[in-house]
Amino acid sequence: MSQEYTAPGAPGELGDPTVEGVEVPEPGAVTIVVPTFNESANVRQLLHQITESVPSRLPCEVVFVDDSTDDTPQVIEEAAQDCPFPVTVIHRDQPVGGLGGAVVEGMKAAGSDWIVVMDGDCQHPPSLVPDLVATGERANAGLVVASRYIKGGSRAGLAGSYRVAVSRAATWLTKSLFPRRLHGISDPMSGFFAIRRSDITAEALKPLGYKILLELAVRSRPRAVTEVPFVFQERFAGESKSTSAEGRRFLRHLAGLRTADPLARMVVFGLIGLTGFVPNLLALWAMTRAGLHYLPAEIVANQFGVAWNFLLIEKLLFRDRRRHRHWADRTVRFALLANADLVLRIPLIALLVGQFGLAVLPATALALVITFVLRFVGTEALVYLPRRSRTARSTA
Ligand code: GDD
Ligand code: MN
Repeated sequence: MSQEYTAPGAPGELGDPTVEGVEVPEPGAVTIVVPTFNESANVRQLLHQITESVPSRLPCEVVFVDDSTDDTPQVIEEAAQDCPFPVTVIHRDQPVGGLGGAVVEGMKAAGSDWIVVMDGDCQHPPSLVPDLVATGERANAGLVVASRYIKGGSRAGLAGSYRVAVSRAATWLTKSLFPRRLHGISDPMSGFFAIRRSDITAEALKPLGYKILLELAVRSRPRAVTEVPFVFQERFAGESKSTSAEGRRFLRHLAGLRTADPLARMVVFGLIGLTGFVPNLLALWAMTRAGLHYLPAEIVANQFGVAWNFLLIEKLLFRDRRRHRHWADRTVRFALLANADLVLRIPLIALLVGQFGLAVLPATALALVITFVLRFVGTEALVYLPRRSRTARSTA
């Protein structure tokens, strides 16, 4: 499927990870993982910079994970002849997961306990690699982020004010969505970081996110995190591969990460439900003004709220879970659940007041909470979870 090439490297630099039983990486050794997509004009310079600044301070190996359509792998193989450390190229015929998938692939192939991920276009200075690892060792950290946003760092090489603004906004959004897990990480979008292999969980390596650092910080939760400032350099040659499509993919990914646990999903479900009051009340207002009696108007207006909630929930919350049922099936189920909620609430209030002796206000509040939780659990189970008995059947 993919070809691999390993340049010999100098003896004694790093134990050959493929020889069984000898996999005892020297303390402080590092595997540098570099994802590349058409970087033939940059990789020679990158290897040169690594040669200049890393092996004298820290034994290293370099693993390129390449999805190029140009001659990047050949250029790497040639340049590797001059390198005093092992260089591996994993060329993938299928670029599964793009940049994030490539990084995961490289991490799996890494032979040392410390892994540094960096770009192949020389925007990340290799001279920082030994510092990242040394800082991690000293602080006994699992993750060391090279940050543009702490004292001593800068994003000098980020081309154009538009990119700067986008990067800033994305960082702010990401940090506010994960205030606890990203505590201590000022630059969660950085593509330059060191991580201990033993701190990476299988869970983090499974999904193929675009921003791999975010994924690792949120899913793996390494023991401790520190940062080292760095100056984001100009690209050595060529242009950035990031596109607005990738930006949208990132936002979807962020939503997916944020709603991975059920409690967070319930909160988002509730917030979406609250916004549903707006179309509901607007419709009620319009219909009663048009002369409709308020009771039938209530019922119809409720459907506006239900439709609004359904659209948002489909787009934002259960985006990845829609394939188990046909959309018409989901619509009918969702509408039934939402209306059952309305129909059930009154008898439930009557029960709480009549049988359990609650006052009307607390009974109403309790009924609201109960029907909300039931509706959330019901929506997950009956609309968006895979059906149990359908394994034998084919997908529609
Ligand atoms: N294997 C592989 N597959 N590599 C890829 C792919 C892909 O689909 N897409 C991009 N790359 C490689 C590029 O060749 C480069 O080495 C590295 O990933 C970063 O790509 P750039 O196109 O240079 O990204 P950037 O400079 O716009 O963004 C960088 O800075 C951002 C912070 O502003 C990256 O480091 C981002 O991760 C980071 O968020
Ligand atoms: Mn770049």
